[in-house]
This record gives sequence, C-alpha cells and structure tokens, in this order.
Amino acid sequence: MIGHVTRCIPVDPCAPALDALQEAAECLKSGGLVAFPTETVYGLGGNALDGRAVQRIFEAKGRPATDPLIVHLPAVEALPMVVKSIPDVVSTLAEHFWPGPLTLILPRGEKVPLSVTAGLDTVAVRVPSHPVAQALLRVSGLAIAAPSANRFGGVSPTTAGHVLRDLEGRIDMVLDGGATPIGVESTVLDISTAVPRILRPGGVSREALEAVLGPVDLLERKASQEEAQASPGLLEKHYAPHHARLILVEIPQNEGLQEAFAHLVTQAEQSGARVGALIADEDLAWLETQFPAMARLALGSLNDPGTVARNLYAGMRAMDEAGMDVILVRDFGTAGLGLAIRDRLYRAASQIVRHIAQNGA
Ligand code: TXA
Ligand code: MG
Repeated sequence: MIGHVTRCIPVDPCAPALDALQEAAECLKSGGLVAFPTETVYGLGGNALDGRAVQRIFEAKGRPATDPLIVHLPAVEALPMVVKSIPDVVSTLAEHFWPGPLTLILPRGEKVPLSVTAGLDTVAVRVPSHPVAQALLRVSGLAIAAPSANRFGGVSPTTAGHVLRDLEGRIDMVLDGGATPIGVESTVLDISTAVPRILRPGGVSREALEAVLGPVDLLERKASQEEAQASPGLLEKHYAPHHARLILVEIPQNEGLQEAFAHLVTQAEQSGARVGALIADEDLAWLETQFPAMARLALGSLNDPGTVARNLYAGMRAMDEAGMDVILVRDFGTAGLGLAIRDRLYRAASQIVRHIAQNGA
C-alpha cells in the first residue's frame, strides 16, 4: 500500500456522481483505503469487517493499535451488522442525532475484528450525514471503519488537500468533496453508565444532548501540558501542528487577553520566534492597533463557535505552513461547539496561559 499513487477524485458534495462512488466502493471491497468527507472531518475509510484493511488504516496513519476506530453505518437499521445488542436509549438518540456527528459506544458484534476496537468488547459507531459519506456507505453496502484522515497526533483534515499533505502515497483514493461543514470531530458518548458520559466533546453539543437525555457527564480532560506535569514522559500531543508551538490564552476578560498577548509576543520575538495569532473577529481591531505587522487569522465571532470550529484546523495548519514558530490562540468559551474547540486546543497546546503573572508571561 505505502508507496502507491493516491488518486484524488473531485465529487459534488451534495450529489456525488455514481461512477466515482462505485470506483471508491470497489476499492474498499478489495481491501483498499479511501478517504472521504464527512460532516465533521475527512475520514480514512476501510472495510470495518476486513481485518487486513483495518490493519492498513493503522499503518497509513501511523496510529498505535491501542487506539480504537469508529465504525460508520448508513443508518440506525444497519446496527446489527456491528453490535451485539442495542440499548433502549439508542432509538431516541438516533431519532434526534443520526445521521449526524454523534458516536455511540455499543457492545461489539462478533464480526467486528478486535483490531477495530483495540481489543475492547465495545465498538464506537456513527451514522454520518454528509451526502458523500452516506452515498459511499450505501453504494458499497459496507460498514466503514474511519479515523480522521491525518497522520497520528496531527491536526485533523477538513479538506482533501489536507488529506493529501498527510497521506499522499499511503492510501488508494480521496473523494474530494470540498471543505467539511462542521470542522471538528463527532461527539463520542458512552451510554453504558447511569448518567451518559461524553468521552470526547464534538459536533453535537452537550446542551443538545442534555435537551434530549437530561444531565450528561463530561470526561474531564486535562490539558496535555498539565498531564505532562503530572506524569512527565507521557506527553502525547494530539491535534497539534507539526512545527509551531501552540500557546492557548485562556483569559476571559478582553483586557487581560490583550495584556497577555502583548507579553507573549514580546517574549517570543525576543527569542527570534515568528509569532502568529488565531483570534476572534472581535479581536481584529485591537490586534491591528497593537501588532499591525503580526500574522493573524480571525476564526469567527465569539458568538458563533460553529464558524470558529469550521475554521479551526485549517487555521492551525495555515499558521504552521506559513512557518510560524509560535501560534497564540485565544479561548472561545464552552458554549455549544466551544467545548469541542477548547478540548482540541488543550490537546494541541504546549502552554496554557490563564494568569498573566503566574505564567511569567
Ligand atoms: O467525526 C469523527 O468522529 C471522525 C469522522 C471521520 O467520523 N472520526 C474520528 O475518528 O475522529 P478518530 O479515530 O480520530 O477518533 C475516534 C475516537 C477516539 O477518541 C477513540 O478513543 C474513540 O473514538 N473510541 C473509538 N472506539 C472506542 C471505544 N470502543 N470506547 C471508547 N472510545 C472509543
Ligand atoms: Mg483523529
């Protein structure tokens, strides 16, 4: 597989052509790997019930075998293909959130290779809503295992260009359906506990789940920086740029934010580092005044975390590729998709600044 030419086939994101879908389906059926757009990020797809194809997914990504994959299905009716039993709450959740960016942890069906679930007796399943993902699932008739289509630990891809930059020559095909509309991965929900628990915040907000289920717990994730302090040597950064160091500035008041940015920019520039900023639309004016020459990208308004989520990964990649040594990112709160944005920034960050003095910034 590795060393092959990767074919990139453009498709209409709303109405993909049947011949492209058939070609991709044939590739999957013969054990090949096809990257395709979902509403969240691009997935790196292989036949979930074919152990060799699953093995290839791990190899192409450079992903450790201990990290389980999500299985994609065309509809809730296909669940018996991959799960052993279906808890009652699934029909309610499916009614509200499928197809869509919600992944459920369910009892693993016998036909699902243990390599998919990293040896667990549960399997992660979701029904994506993107028309290209839907059509590929229906035309192939397969359950498709698909992690995000990036190299392990890196930033997830929201365009076919991102996929090719990471996986060119390592996979057979990419269906290029343009930029993905949500931009962060699905919400992973564990429903085996009395109170359902979000294992990874994502495209379905905690508020939306709670409106249907009542209270929902959140598996608290420490920032990778804090994990590193708790257990040095175990730092495993995810969602992180290749080159640049990402610094998250999590100071709620605007005044404090400006002050923190000023300190951090001075500090970084004194050491000769190139600094770029990922900010909100509302920050553009003061940033322009204080740092007219600094590279900056406004990801969206503070009132619109959906737009920020859609632009987040492309923004991180753009700053990295522009040769920035340091990327300063502001925090976007926890409302709606803000929670998923903060989770990804925690995992990507080398440093989190919460108090100006305490961090010596
Ligand atoms: O939006 C998405 O979910 C994208 C698109 C392509 O569908 N996929 C994605 O896959 O983000 P990946 O492999 O990057 O993330 C899978 C997540 C990981 O956090 C993994 O730990 C969790 O799902 N997961 C998978 N199987 C699990 C299981 N049996 N129990 C608990 N967590 C599981
Ligand atoms: Mg991933």
